[in-house]
Amino acid sequence: MRIAIYPGTFDPLTNGHLDIIERVCKLGISDRLIIAVRENLRKSPLLSLVERLALIYKLTSDFDQVEVDICTGLLVEYARSKYASMIIRGLRNGMDFNYEMEMAVINQSLAPDIETLFIPSKAENIYVSSSAVKEITKLGGSAGSMAPAAVIEYLKTKL
Ligand code: PNS
Repeated sequence: MRIAIYPGTFDPLTNGHLDIIERVCKLGISDRLIIAVRENLRKSPLLSLVERLALIYKLTSDFDQVEVDICTGLLVEYARSKYASMIIRGLRNGMDFNYEMEMAVINQSLAPDIETLFIPSKAENIYVSSSAVKEITKLGGSAGSMAPAAVIEYLKTKL
């Protein structure tokens, strides 16, 4: 059984995240893909972990191999507890690359048996971020090209 973890803050899930999930499923590199929703010590979230999990659960129900979970503590320890051999991360630009490369190398030193796989973003999602979705929605704009309608509707009730 090949198990992959796609970790992130997902505050909220965007079209960029959904695209990565869809493409990993199509690649056929894993039997189970666990979307691991977590706090990020560098960010203060708008949505609770449970709200984020519920939105992801609703929007990924068509993917048979996808599961959604809340994860705490060291990522590699969580991955080990799930018997995962892969960590998936999306890359939009050089800034992502620098940050992700650092995390991947640290995770590699902590758990050499777990590989980080980078998936390049689609061109249309290069400027998509959870922060932009929240800011545009808060200021009354339309972020419909950046996130699923269910996410935007939910955000409107929160903002
Ligand atoms: O969606 P994000 O905010 O870019 O996700 C970042 C996240 C949550 C994947 C990252 O902060 C993370 O992996 N945190 C886990 C903490 C950890 O294991 N740290 C050690 C390696 S630096």
